[in-house]
Amino acid sequence: MLVPAAVAFANGNGNSADTSLRALAAKQGLRFGTAVDASQLGTNKAYTDIVADQFSVVTAENAMKWESVEPTQGVYNWKDADALVKFAEQHGQVVRGHTLMWHNQLPSWLTTGVGNGTISNAQLRDILHKHVTDEVTHFKGKIWQWDVINEVFANSWETPQADGLNANDFWVQHLGSGIIGDVFRWAHKADPKAVLMYNDYNITGEDGTNVKFQAVYNFVKDLRKQGVPIDGIGEQGHLDTQYGFDAQRYQADLQAYADLGLKVAITEADVRTFVNNSTEQVPTSSLAQFAQPFEFSELLKGCELVSQCISFTAWGVHDGDSWIPGTFQGEGYGLLYDVNMQPKTVYSTLQQDLELAAGTAHHGALGGDK
Ligand code: XIL
Repeated sequence: MLVPAAVAFANGNGNSADTSLRALAAKQGLRFGTAVDASQLGTNKAYTDIVADQFSVVTAENAMKWESVEPTQGVYNWKDADALVKFAEQHGQVVRGHTLMWHNQLPSWLTTGVGNGTISNAQLRDILHKHVTDEVTHFKGKIWQWDVINEVFANSWETPQADGLNANDFWVQHLGSGIIGDVFRWAHKADPKAVLMYNDYNITGEDGTNVKFQAVYNFVKDLRKQGVPIDGIGEQGHLDTQYGFDAQRYQADLQAYADLGLKVAITEADVRTFVNNSTEQVPTSSLAQFAQPFEFSELLKGCELVSQCISFTAWGVHDGDSWIPGTFQGEGYGLLYDVNMQPKTVYSTLQQDLELAAGTAHHGALGGDK
């Protein structure tokens, strides 16, 4: 991948008083990112300015998913994804590619064909191989990290196989566990320099147990032993203030992955809570107003404390643009900016965390009594 000049990594203006998230994170060699709705770039000025000024890595929230890039079989549409890659190049940002193999947001021609038996499992494998190869090749040299595989491990409410994969996952069901290693090999062949990640949620103990963590850990350790070209683990980091969050276990789990020789990244951070309504998104509990930035801060600090953590990405820019209200009934307030695109408390909390980790404070208290 192309590494932009160090100054661009921080922010084009090279100003040491720059307190943007990207500039502060650059002081510790970390990239700070956001998921982007590519269709708003250039058309929504306030949105575009925040994306350009604050972040050094961007992820397409939807534009690189299979249903977006190949809505009709054999007919590719790279428009929004290409626009995002170009925007990133112009703003000294790098790109996280998301995602090559996932059970959601598949094109309907594919799911329909599999459902009615006109696409056999052998054909499905060939179609997946072509998809992975074509997409990675299209963006060759332009993607820093790829989320190669997304969300194939079983949650506590799902049926695990002996190896911990979700037995009912679309891909596992049709192609078996071996497909995981194959997809990493195909992606590596198409772009040997891209950092290849496995991406999932609740894989650092957030659901109150370490069962899913252990399954991913064992599986990935085995992949590495087999020589499968997997470079890292993406922990999505979708938190909810109604559940506890054990920040120590989270950090220990990140470190355990890293100790396997892997990079780690926080790929989709947001911290949701119950709100008055989806338009205003004011938390209904005053304590949640503290819990939200606190848990976000714990997510960032865990990454900061693990030196192999290479990027920290929020899943969207502002609350008005988040997947949360449409997915979690009655919840919202998950991101760094409010529905009016004004920075929230959590924004300054994260700024402070970044400043502290960069070691910017010098108190002079060790110089004598008077
Ligand atoms: C979500 C997007 O934010 C929504 O806009 C879309 O409608 C559904 O997908 N885990 C992932 C992301 O890996 O791709 C999902 O993104 C959120 C959960």
